[in-house]
Amino acid sequence: MTFLSATLDRVKPSPTIAVTTKAAELKAAGRDVIGLGAGEPDFDTPQNIKDAAVKAIADGKTKYTAVDGIPELKEAICAKFKRDNALDYAPAQITVGTGGKQVLYNAFMATLNPGDEVIIPAPYWVSYPDMVLLAGGTPVPVAATLEANFKITAEQLEAAITPKTKWFLFNSPSNPTGAGYSWSELKELTDVLMRHPHVWVMTDDMYEHLAYGSFKFCTPAQVEPGLFERTLTVNGVSKAYAMTGWRIGYAGGPEHLIKAMRKVQSQSTSNPCSVSQHAAVEALNGTQEFLAPNNALFERRRGLVVDMLNKAPGIICPKPEGAFYVYPSIAGCIGKTSTGGTLVGNDEVFATALLEETGVAVVFGAAFGLSPNFRVSYATSDAALKDACTRIITFCEGLS
Ligand SMILES: Cc1ncc(COP(=O)(O)O)c(C=O)c1O
Repeated sequence: MTFLSATLDRVKPSPTIAVTTKAAELKAAGRDVIGLGAGEPDFDTPQNIKDAAVKAIADGKTKYTAVDGIPELKEAICAKFKRDNALDYAPAQITVGTGGKQVLYNAFMATLNPGDEVIIPAPYWVSYPDMVLLAGGTPVPVAATLEANFKITAEQLEAAITPKTKWFLFNSPSNPTGAGYSWSELKELTDVLMRHPHVWVMTDDMYEHLAYGSFKFCTPAQVEPGLFERTLTVNGVSKAYAMTGWRIGYAGGPEHLIKAMRKVQSQSTSNPCSVSQHAAVEALNGTQEFLAPNNALFERRRGLVVDMLNKAPGIICPKPEGAFYVYPSIAGCIGKTSTGGTLVGNDEVFATALLEETGVAVVFGAAFGLSPNFRVSYATSDAALKDACTRIITFCEGLS
């Protein structure tokens, strides 16, 4: 009899954390390392939000709260959904968890039975397939290729749906590609979903506010109100408000699903941090004026990174619509040998050689389910980005 659960054999540790650990080790050993792996904004939580948290502590808001969120936060979330997404949720249709991650996990735990399939466009956020596996379901990846701007088509979605499909998991703008679906592109997918009433939609809108140029964010139940009754709209404060450490995510959905998710949470973590909930009320209800300058900053960095990476021989880097990631292809580098003598057979080898030979840490594409690519997070300073991209160009120029 083994000590560890067989469930753990189904999942793998997070590759993004593995890269961060390796980069930290090299740094500790005195190497000059530039990390492009982080999935969080490089600026601080806005002051008004911090002040709300300090006040919550001073006011003694330090006790257990209702399992899935304080009433003020649920009201703020309802107002946010109405304001930004034209979605009418009542407080009873809202749940708050310890990050969007827990909300997604609760939803899978509350709904998946063995054999249930979850359609996941690939490349995907690393946690999606493993969460589905932990909950006993079966992830069904659908390739969103570089040629298709990292978006799946209606035909692909139609072909992936089976009688066992329980959820279609949608993420736009996407981690790791930054790809964002326009209203008409999303409408093509929702038209397919309207023909399959047994399929539910889980939409992860975490990067909603990180949308650039003429791209306008939209979410499935907004584009197709006919899907409202079978859509879970997941969002959170981590990315838009630079609040990754506060751990607040939320979702709106049908009341029976929200209740089932609350049951899961009530027997695991109970309520998310009381102080963070009060901070999140301020994030959603308070001034939104820092969003525009932050977006302008990210948009400029996107341009910088895309322009520079496209100068590297063997790399093709599309310009995505949002988030703070790019996902260049290294198809032109495969089969070549680096100046350090490494034969680049796949994207994991590429990322390892890049880190060891140049000190630039990126996450290899296989971790996200589409190769040969790597993910760059441009949530770091212009100077670091320029330095890192110059090193990547030199590394690629050295491949022979
Ligand atoms: C696509 C996506 N969804 C959800 C999350 C989780 O965010 P949170 O910090 O709210 O748990 C992340 C974080 O990296 C993400 O990239």
